[in-house]
Amino acid sequence: VSLKSCNTLGFEASARALAEVDSLCALHRLLKVNGHGRHRHIMALGGGSNVVMKPCIDALVVRYTGQRIWQEAINATESLWHVEAGVNWHALVDQTTAAGWWGIENLALIPGSTGAAPIQNIGAYGCDISDVIESVHVMHIDDGRYEIIERSRCDFGYRHSIFKTTLAGRVIVIRVVLRLDLKGRPRTGYGDLARHVTDTSSPAEVAAAVAAIRREKLPDPAVLGNAGSFFKNPVVPTERAERFLSQWPDMPVWKTAQGTKLAAGWLIDQCGWKGVRDQNVGVHRHQALVLVHYGGGSVNDLLALAERIQHSVEARFGVTLEMEPGVIGQ
Ligand code: EPU
Repeated sequence: VSLKSCNTLGFEASARALAEVDSLCALHRLLKVNGHGRHRHIMALGGGSNVVMKPCIDALVVRYTGQRIWQEAINATESLWHVEAGVNWHALVDQTTAAGWWGIENLALIPGSTGAAPIQNIGAYGCDISDVIESVHVMHIDDGRYEIIERSRCDFGYRHSIFKTTLAGRVIVIRVVLRLDLKGRPRTGYGDLARHVTDTSSPAEVAAAVAAIRREKLPDPAVLGNAGSFFKNPVVPTERAERFLSQWPDMPVWKTAQGTKLAAGWLIDQCGWKGVRDQNVGVHRHQALVLVHYGGGSVNDLLALAERIQHSVEARFGVTLEMEPGVIGQ
């Protein structure tokens, strides 16, 4: 079965089979027949917006498509939002912000499903989904066991979680529980967001401003194949960042608890890659951090381009760029 429409880079890929299930019973049954003790033969997939798919995926690909959303009040202003994995992430941001809830307004227009969001700990404009996650409900592929993983056990970090390490390939996300608040204020610490919102903006206005900024820089995957940022922003020791700054005073940097974060897009841009096209793949015209597929290209061309970019950034700055999306298949 073809997975071309299941990855936003739009590469041709095929899997042994694709199963979409929207209930726990159906998923449990499916795993019982196909999964137990055989997690290597089953692969979970969400919106396919953070994966680089190779042509052959020798597995049964499973998508949990449940769409239910319900609220559980915890006090006068806060609620737990139980959101099933199949809910489109941006549709959820639209729904919660339109109803006046704070918490995920800065994460507007991120492609993909709610179930995939905790895996890479989606983040933008100074917020990560881990800021509001209460727990993640999963089913284990190997034995069909249902488990609620509390936030403290998720090992969240920058574009990182336990779902990329210990639990990688072992669970299917069923539900994400978010703690949202009717009380709140715009968080405008990152980049140019402060220019577009004021202290009195509503959650919906913040989400609209974030969406507008993203539309300017990031290609719409429905129009041009891409997987968002192709590399993580590297974190270096602060003394090293200071040496960089004395040589390149314009270099964008952010202090974090782990060191100083550099802008991979800026590093790549400085090496002259922005807008470069090589056959049917290339570097986006407006944002050097995003690699694009114009259609009809091959995943190997894209990975070869990524490697050339990594080499040139390494040669010029001595910084290693780590890929952000996961590569799947052979
Ligand atoms: N920059 C350049 N040239 C470029 C790209 C960026 O000079 O071609 C400079 C910008 O001018 C800015 C700095 O680099 O000073 C950072 O750029 P930007 O604000 O666009 O953010 P980013 O570091 O490129 C990160 C996330 C995005 C997220 C934005 C906003 C990562 C890997 N990427 O991008 O997340 O939307 O911040 O918070 O952390 C994603 O993960 O797919 C993603 C899009």
